[in-house]
Amino acid sequence: MAARVFSGIQPSGEPHLGNYIGAIRNWVADQERYDNYFCIVDEHAITVPYEPAEMRSRVRELAAVLVACGIDPERSVLFVQSHVPEHTELTWLLICNTPMGWLERMTQFKDKAGSRRERVGAGLFTYPVLMAADILLYQTSVVPVGDDQKQHVELSRDIAGRFNNLYGEVFTVPEPVIREVGARVMGLDDPTKKMSKSVEGQHHAIGLLDEPDLIRRRIGRAVTDSLREIRFDEERPGVHNLLTIHHALSGQDRSAIEAHFEGKGYGDLKKEVAEVVVEALAPVRRSYAEITADPETIDGILEEGRERARPAAEATMESVRRAMGLR
Ligand code: AMP
Ligand code: TRP
Repeated sequence: MAARVFSGIQPSGEPHLGNYIGAIRNWVADQERYDNYFCIVDEHAITVPYEPAEMRSRVRELAAVLVACGIDPERSVLFVQSHVPEHTELTWLLICNTPMGWLERMTQFKDKAGSRRERVGAGLFTYPVLMAADILLYQTSVVPVGDDQKQHVELSRDIAGRFNNLYGEVFTVPEPVIREVGARVMGLDDPTKKMSKSVEGQHHAIGLLDEPDLIRRRIGRAVTDSLREIRFDEERPGVHNLLTIHHALSGQDRSAIEAHFEGKGYGDLKKEVAEVVVEALAPVRRSYAEITADPETIDGILEEGRERARPAAEATMESVRRAMGLR
């Protein structure tokens, strides 16, 4: 049987080029090889303030974007986290088996909470346990993510290992899979920070449904540096980021890309990278328009996803309850 893959994405803002390069396109590329579960994690998205009236449409929009990017709902189970209540049930049981110290080490919590540590919701702190529950419920062996989620997947491994030691072998211990190219796409306005759904600003991210002219404008404004040479140099994050986007989407070798830009200026670099991005996203925009032409299509896909996900989740929950002496 094919290995089980699970990954998740939050419906918290517009899906962007970082999500595409770091995660979604890898899910699509490996879809045929694996037994896949892709989850829209709305219960993660409520760990920070949000607009309840927008959540329903954001979830559906994201589902349509994923299908437009090439997730095949026949081949893969595409579903919404809150439609399968076992995710929250398992989270509580795992929270009781997760040392505080493990969660205190999570760098994403430290970054997100910052100086507001005393005031943020407790869900922001226990967020990685919900993520562990997502993964472990489906007996997942492979978790393809961007670089920022590596620590969380490792925590899931530790939680699974500890649980299996205490209560007997219940969970498959998952492995993170992080592709080297494009695992961390940086913000266009500040190439020292990762591109993120939660950063405001017109010139931070490229949305997967952005019009070609907006893509050109956004890349045209990308922060670079005052040097001239165009090569992959991590010390120069702005140029490095643009070249990485090119490399990830065009598939050309780094050396071929550097040779191509020899003697050219940053204006040429931005123009050409913009065209590579426009070309890569054109089919996504086209197919998004087709899928959303009938609003019921997405609801049907998500309903079917729920029906396929639920039995797998319920089977794991039964073993967990029995192992913990709760039934
Ligand atoms: P999120 O938007 O936080 O729900 O992330 C969904 C997926 O996209 C996860 O696998 C992340 O690791 C990945 N991802 C998010 N931002 C980036 C980025 N800037 N570069 C590469 N991958 C990313
Ligand atoms: N926390 C992940 C992120 O923000 C999303 C996520 C939730 C996830 N559950 C998951 C990713 C399980 C992989 C596996 O990117």
